[in-house]
Amino acid sequence: MIKSEIKVPSHITHVLEEKSRTGNLRHIPSGDIATMPRIDLVSNDYLSLAERADRGEFDALRERVAREYAFSSSASRLLSRRQRGYMELERLLGSLYDRPALLFNSGYHANVGIVSALNAGNTLFVVDRLVHASVYDGLRVGGCLFERFRHNDMASLRKILEKHAGTHDTVVVIAESVYSMDGDLAPLRELVALREEFGNMLLYVDEAHAVGVRGSRGLGLAEETGTIGKIDIITGTFGKALASSGAFTVCDSRLHDFFVNCSRSFIFSTAIPPVCAEWTREMLLLSLEMERERRHLAELSQWFAESLALITGNDTGSRSQIIPLVTGDAQKAVALSECIHKAGFDALAIRRPTVPPHGERIRFSLSAGLTRSQLEPLLTILKDTLG
Ligand SMILES: Cc1ncc(COP(=O)(O)O)c(C=O)c1O
Repeated sequence: MIKSEIKVPSHITHVLEEKSRTGNLRHIPSGDIATMPRIDLVSNDYLSLAERADRGEFDALRERVAREYAFSSSASRLLSRRQRGYMELERLLGSLYDRPALLFNSGYHANVGIVSALNAGNTLFVVDRLVHASVYDGLRVGGCLFERFRHNDMASLRKILEKHAGTHDTVVVIAESVYSMDGDLAPLRELVALREEFGNMLLYVDEAHAVGVRGSRGLGLAEETGTIGKIDIITGTFGKALASSGAFTVCDSRLHDFFVNCSRSFIFSTAIPPVCAEWTREMLLLSLEMERERRHLAELSQWFAESLALITGNDTGSRSQIIPLVTGDAQKAVALSECIHKAGFDALAIRRPTVPPHGERIRFSLSAGLTRSQLEPLLTILKDTLG
């Protein structure tokens, strides 16, 4: 038995007590999906590829990848002697987007590493208010000067650009394509039009929730809107629709080389295992052909969002597979999540700081393997509880 004399500062205890009192204390879930016969509306497994892998559908592929590729890179990408796996995946991504691709260990690493590195020279960052926490962390880590525009509001963005673009060498505008908590879409064509108008504006789009899901080959909302070639930096993640882990960025070759040299999250972190990169490559290849699943997911999501709107009397605002049900109160969101849980559905209560105060909600995350008949009982419960 170890005699413990470990200290805990008193303010830590106060933070935990306050979170508990306001219904904002988070817990790591127990149990494993493999042993829980539940309908999963939490995971970002949008194409149901992870679920199919759990069921053993890809066992032969799993065995091949595990046999042929290393389980550890044993070093950061710049030092590793086990590059097989990364190169092939980057080559595939490069050919799909027609631009050099660079892998990162996660979407979090990518956003923090890229945003902070871009803070060179006289640069201003202008971000949609609702961009992911990792972008905000990148801004903080990089000590970046930044402004926020109202969510998806191009007039608000234009106003900031008109005021500040002339006094900065570069203005980096950052948006998500499918917003992670609201499920609405960025007006990519309008963002691109502003980029054409303001010569020193660089456009950075985080496609974490659109890769695999939007566009005819699943390359993202940029593919769907025909804007890939006009977005300077696109980041996508592998841990959601692609049933893997890690992230990529596609950009100009000089930016690629710049990130290799200056992005600290790329340089100073052990690379994801090569086995993971090869698994991602296989999942990516599969996903390119999953047009039928993408169509089904889009139809199912629209039907679910419309059904929810009929119950609550409010448009959910969603235009994707992420569908929020805003309760505006953490305790109400938790109670609703528990009620749903008892009926065999897992849907998370989202609270501060992930969403702003009064934005507390249940986030329904749909995937292609679900059907209307599986979701109908959930709508009945919601109608009985909220109607
Ligand atoms: C929009 C967005 N960007 C980036 C990330 C981070 O990606 P990862 O989970 O691969 O770190 C997330 C994750 O939830 C996200 O929602």
